Amino acid sequence: MMLNNPIRPEAHKILRILPQTESEWTFRVENHMPIQHGQFMQISIPKFGEAPISISGFGESYADFTIRKVGKVTDELFNLKEGDYVFLRGCYGNGWPVGCLKDKNVVIIAGGTGVSPVKSLINALYDDQNYAEEVYLILGFKNSQSVLFADELKKWKAEKYFHTFYTLDGEDYKDWNKGMVTDLIEEIPFQQFAGNYECLVVGPPVMMKFVGKKLLKNGIPEDKIWMSFERKMSCAIGKCGHCRIDETYVCLDGPIFNYTIGKKLVD
Ligand SMILES: Cc1cc2nc3c(=O)[nH]c(=O)nc-3n(C[C@H](O)[C@H](O)[C@H](O)COP(=O)(O)OP(=O)(O)OC[C@H]3O[C@@H](n4cnc5c(N)ncnc54)[C@H](O)[C@@H]3O)c2cc1C
Ligand code: FES
Repeated sequence: MMLNNPIRPEAHKILRILPQTESEWTFRVENHMPIQHGQFMQISIPKFGEAPISISGFGESYADFTIRKVGKVTDELFNLKEGDYVFLRGCYGNGWPVGCLKDKNVVIIAGGTGVSPVKSLINALYDDQNYAEEVYLILGFKNSQSVLFADELKKWKAEKYFHTFYTLDGEDYKDWNKGMVTDLIEEIPFQQFAGNYECLVVGPPVMMKFVGKKLLKNGIPEDKIWMSFERKMSCAIGKCGHCRIDETYVCLDGPIFNYTIGKKLVD
């Protein structure tokens, strides 16, 4: 079903449910709207409410949403089955600056559910290895029980064009690192890039704060850092002001910001 009016929620069928962890599941929902990497949609269930959720993957006739069960709407989503319907409106948001990444070294630093909004972009870079120069992934999770997208992580690791650094905060696991994503920033050979790179960062607020600081400390200029922000939202179309910080509307101007602007959104 097409979404003709971008602010009117329309019923869409859940095609598949793919549990990732106990409290994070990927819902594959029918969708025919064009999507850009890093955009989000508003998902609602009548009588329970609405929540903005990033698109973690997409194909011609579906969009994937990887959702953590944390409250009213998301609890109810976890009671649904394949074949049931949810309401969608969108897509919203600006998406990752894909044009800026052409022929550059792309450094992606993501933590926890923050891997969701950047996953479709990582897969696009995997599928078209002539697009960027090389890809560096620093991905972190709390523990082995919270690892998302295990099959894709394995696929990316096996690809020479990808340089992968996976870490768990405080647990020994396979051949992974132990510690925070910030500890791995020194592994990226920024000096060899001769300025030809961009850094994309997404994760919990505290992670983004410390990654931003560490990148700056390592001499990365603000304008080479991009961050995706989650803020309380209501309308998602720049009308209600819920997501507004000074003159910036996260729903309209973001959720992805260059650090020159995004630094004032860092908690
Ligand atoms: C652009 C954007 C993209 C996002 N992408 C994703 C995504 O891909 N996946 C994802 O899982 N989430 C994502 N989120 C976050 C998601 O929108 C929120 O988690 C959303 O609020 C969940 O809605 P809910 O009704 O289930 O939770 P709510 O009931 O609104 O609860 C939200 C939070 O408030 C807390 N809370 C609820 N009630 C109380 C109370 N009485 N007292 C104290 N605390 C309380 C809950 O513990 C929870 O942490 C995104 C948000 C934005 C803005
Ligand atoms: S959510 Fe309403 S203005 Fe951004």
